[in-house]
Amino acid sequence: MSDAPAKADPIAQMEKIVSLCKRRGFIYQSSEVYGGCAGVWDYGPLGAELKRNLRDAWWRSMMRDRDDILGLDASILMHPDIWKASGHVATFADMMRECSLSNKRVRADHVEPQSGTVMQFKGAESPNGWRLDRVLTVLMKQGEHIESFRKRVRNLVAANASDAAGKPEEIVLHGEEKIDVVNGSVDFHPETGGQLNEARPFNLMLRTFLGPTATEADVTYLRPETAQAIFAQFKNVLDSSRIKVPFGIGQIGKAFRNEVTPKNFTFRSREFEQMELEFFIKPDEAVEIIHGAVAQWVEGADLSVPQENWGWEMWHRYWVQERTRFYQGIGLGDVLEYFWQPAGDLAHYARACVDILCQFPFGTEELEGIAARGDFDLSQHQKHSGKSLEYFDEELKTAAVKLTDEQKEAMIQKRLAQEVAKTKGEPMPEADVRAWFARLFNGFYVPHVIEPSAGLDRMALAIIAKAFDQFDKTDAKGKAETFTVLRFHPRVAPIKCGIFPLLKNKPELVAKAREVYALLKPHMNCFYDESAAIGRRYARQDEIGTPFGITIDFETCGEKGPELQDTVTLRHRDTNEQERVKISDLLGKLLPAIQ
Ligand code: GAP
Repeated sequence: MSDAPAKADPIAQMEKIVSLCKRRGFIYQSSEVYGGCAGVWDYGPLGAELKRNLRDAWWRSMMRDRDDILGLDASILMHPDIWKASGHVATFADMMRECSLSNKRVRADHVEPQSGTVMQFKGAESPNGWRLDRVLTVLMKQGEHIESFRKRVRNLVAANASDAAGKPEEIVLHGEEKIDVVNGSVDFHPETGGQLNEARPFNLMLRTFLGPTATEADVTYLRPETAQAIFAQFKNVLDSSRIKVPFGIGQIGKAFRNEVTPKNFTFRSREFEQMELEFFIKPDEAVEIIHGAVAQWVEGADLSVPQENWGWEMWHRYWVQERTRFYQGIGLGDVLEYFWQPAGDLAHYARACVDILCQFPFGTEELEGIAARGDFDLSQHQKHSGKSLEYFDEELKTAAVKLTDEQKEAMIQKRLAQEVAKTKGEPMPEADVRAWFARLFNGFYVPHVIEPSAGLDRMALAIIAKAFDQFDKTDAKGKAETFTVLRFHPRVAPIKCGIFPLLKNKPELVAKAREVYALLKPHMNCFYDESAAIGRRYARQDEIGTPFGITIDFETCGEKGPELQDTVTLRHRDTNEQERVKISDLLGKLLPAIQ
């Protein structure tokens, strides 16, 4: 018998993963019976379970296991002004280039370099009287035969004219001319070879109408992130819960982006789910007034328990650590990397942003972003809505009363110097700085925020990709077979336990197996299977990542002596280890592993 790991060719690996996901009911292409819908995916029975386990794990670690975070379940449709205030209407765009031949769009930063001969045609016509009176510039790719090239152009021209141009082979292309030879050019559409026009911004929000007139006045958007609802409901959550800053609001929900190039399976989709936390903290100046100083981040600082004198940087580091611990807890610990955005690339209001990256078969890509966003979001909503989103901090007011005028002025001067030193965004005018401090000294401020924002679909894909394992085994007769195992962490596995009577035609085994199934089912997702040889049944569960298998055999029924009666074989998926366990001990053994 040989256990040779399959070669990890990234494209082949992804193809195998996509195929397994469809075959075993994890993920299907949306609307597949109608030819599919690009960038949208449906989760089958096992995918739905996997996602639910991930959602539950996130909710538990962010809400249930803590006292300082509250949940929200906001609507997808919101007032369109929210998206003006957040900046999404004006700036949530990708730069796009359009193919002059096919009108297909491509993200400006995703154009693959092309080499070949640039050809031009002055126009085209067909025998039915259809005419195209504009210049067509198309790249004849290196190695492409001139006749196949002309045929390709005729096909593209016909496709773009819908039915008007008639049969592609009857189209006549006029004024063919070679105009250039290019190497590594990014000015031609990678698929069609058509010349690309200038890059233009393309807003990624999906527009819809809210109201019966369906006019521009009714336009709103499917939310492109769940975060804005948290900011919009900040005051309601605060007032209805009496929680104190620092605290967080988290939510899980759908988000929609009209991604120009959805790709890598579910990695970049047009409809996806986010799990976002907005953790509201005091501005550093408030911490300084209350505690005399702000704890500064130094390498190796203790982040295990939040401290009252933490400023934004400690909180940001803390959340990076917390989120890392979360990923470790679901089995992704060893495939994570981090990208700290250079200060020069940050938005003018952001203080820091780190991407938690994951090693996918197609490359190391973002799983979650953790940003320190200052008070930008709440301030924007305060400005656009005209409603106060300030927080009153009693402790701050009491501490500020004790400051001397000189101490207050020193704080103002320090902040003014910081404003002058800003390299991005407009410095706050002195009058505004003084007004801000006047509110602060009275106990009022707009909280700052740390935002850990994760994608559920990416997380599910990361989990599947990490778990995927395929190997060949040769049996005693020399017959080779390929086996697939999803090595899911038991906590996220869609099915926790397979339950198998050794033989299906022995009523006493079946009855006992049904008993074990009834015992475990209220506590975990189990699968009862009595068909095929036991090895085949194990393999079927391995393929969908079930971590435990329980076999009810003759020993269970007491046929091999009373000491083995009411014991079962518990098989562990990853080690293939089998142990004898009393039925009455099963829950005690399995529950800690899956929780
Ligand atoms: N509120 C901040 C925000 O939305 P983002 O980096 O645009 O930040 C956060 O998105 C997370 O949402 C990403 O790290 C990713 O996991 C997920 N995400 C974003 N766009 C996605 C897409 N098109 N398909 C799947 N997941 C996506």
